[in-house]
Amino acid sequence: MRQLTVLITGASAGIGEAFAKIFAEHNFDLVLVARRLDRLEEVAGEIQGQYHVEATCLPADLSEVDAVDKLMSVLKAKNLVIDALVNNAGYALNGSFLEPSWEDHRKMHQVMLNGYTELCYRLLPSMVERRYGRIINVSSLSAMLPSVPSSMYTGIKRYVVDMSAAIDFEMRGQGIHCLALCPGFTYTEFHDVMGVREQAQSNFPKFMWQSSETVAREGYDAVMAGKVLKVNGWYNRLLSMVLNHLPYSLQHRLARSQDPFSD
Ligand SMILES: NC(=O)c1ccc[n+]([C@@H]2O[C@H](COP(=O)([O-])OP(=O)(O)OC[C@H]3O[C@@H](n4cnc5c(N)ncnc54)[C@H](OP(=O)(O)O)[C@@H]3O)[C@@H](O)[C@H]2O)c1
Repeated sequence: MRQLTVLITGASAGIGEAFAKIFAEHNFDLVLVARRLDRLEEVAGEIQGQYHVEATCLPADLSEVDAVDKLMSVLKAKNLVIDALVNNAGYALNGSFLEPSWEDHRKMHQVMLNGYTELCYRLLPSMVERRYGRIINVSSLSAMLPSVPSSMYTGIKRYVVDMSAAIDFEMRGQGIHCLALCPGFTYTEFHDVMGVREQAQSNFPKFMWQSSETVAREGYDAVMAGKVLKVNGWYNRLLSMVLNHLPYSLQHRLARSQDPFSD
């Protein structure tokens, strides 16, 4: 019987790398996507030394408009059939709305909004045909909280939650589950890329942080159990529940008084 295959974006580091190990542990072959081929090959090498799975590394810059198109051609040329998808590649821009160039905004939208959506759209038909599919779209705790200043990131991650719910709703009964995973603070390269590592670690207590392994394992278990939303960490679940019960104007006022990454 053919072994199931998962495609993971952003597999060269952090949560994506952790997902690669967990899917391999469950006997999935891997298609690993990110820009840094050397890092993907390191991850693939480590996994193949430990598990009997195939790992294919596909370097791609998902901020390019035709990146998914090119990926689909490579999958076809290599005869790779995808049974599970982890849309995970992502980052946040630091600064106010008008600070980054429009090109930087456009790239962020392309990676986490258009890119996630297009990968679902392109990979779902063959999942429907085989009546099996598992999709994890990595959102963020911030999608479940009042929007903090400048965070277009939050808006994108909210879309990811809604898109995942819509797909899951439509695909129910066809063997497909689609989960939005909402991690809180997670030890990865995310805050280094954003340039706020020190502020993040000094402004938020240790109990709010999780390892990428824990986040990915909870995500894997949740999608396999057919859940549509998973907020990682009891503290984060409590926080989002409490804040979402406040009137919107109060949420907005609270959020305005916060700058999560101030010195
Ligand atoms: N860490 C947190 O606290 C946290 C909290 C909530 C949500 N998240 C979400 O979790 C997801 C994973 O982030 P992480 O924390 O694991 O961060 P990370 O360690 O920085 O990993 C980000 C991954 O995304 C890839 N990536 C970034 N831009 C890309 C592009 N243009 N094309 C292809 N791949 C790209 C990176 O690979 P290359 O650089 O090699 O391309 C890397 O593999 C993100 O969607 C993030 O928004 C993280």
